[in-house]
Amino acid sequence: MSDEKLDLLADRLRRASRVTILTGAGVSAASGVPTFRGSGGLWRQFRAEDLATPGAFSRDPVLVWEWYAWRRELIAACKPNPAHDVVARWSKSFERCTVITQNVDDLHVQADTANLLRVHGSLWELSCWRKCGASPWHDESVPLQTLPPLCPACGGLARPGVVWFGESLPRREMEAAAAACACDVFLTVGTSAIVYPAAGLVHEAKRGGAFTAELNLDPTPASAEVELAIHGPADRLLSDIAQRLIP
Ligand code: APR
Repeated sequence: MSDEKLDLLADRLRRASRVTILTGAGVSAASGVPTFRGSGGLWRQFRAEDLATPGAFSRDPVLVWEWYAWRRELIAACKPNPAHDVVARWSKSFERCTVITQNVDDLHVQADTANLLRVHGSLWELSCWRKCGASPWHDESVPLQTLPPLCPACGGLARPGVVWFGESLPRREMEAAAAACACDVFLTVGTSAIVYPAAGLVHEAKRGGAFTAELNLDPTPASAEVELAIHGPADRLLSDIAQRLIP
């Protein structure tokens, strides 16, 4: 962990008024939430195309729900870690700070993060698969009352409120995320930077003149693009930088 790099990033943050933070699964790793592509990652054990696409759900909604029920049970036992706490503190301490998360575990919500954009949805939101007109609803029951859960309005299948491969991201969140690329510092934390459109945001911010930095355990395709790449565990790196920001 190079102190100069941490000092440089802390200095940039100290002088910034507009900060945008993009987070991925690596931020929740220290809370016990499995990542997708790191060691022991979900996509190493399961085939995304069998579990996280509309086609997979049409083919076998029970299989898909069993998998989401398993993830809900696992994540229900997880708590925010120091990485979430630092991001939550920063979300309220800069003139403008936007937090864009790809995570569906809502640990940023639990950490009381302000200006949070959940661009891949939430494991704790459900909606009607048949789009009967019912508004999406919040459901934190573990275990789920029925498997598969049903739409309270039409009695049809409910689906998890997450964005699956091949689906568009929520327009309001993505428009706000694009606007937040106009910032002084754009920080990506704990993401492999390969899933678009979220992985494109750091490049957009760089084009807009933002100072870009990556905090991640391993190098990613973005490491060579950003002004500063620091590799290590998110909870330790963020806590270290936060320490440096204390006057
Ligand atoms: N601290 C920092 N980074 C970590 C840590 C840690 N403790 N543990 C793992 N990482 C890094 C890994 O090196 C990896 O580069 O976090 C990254 C996690 O990458 P992915 O598992 O690919 O997760 P993410 O980038 O969030 O995935 C994006 O893909 O599967 C879809 O919709 C899903 O939102 C997800 C999207």
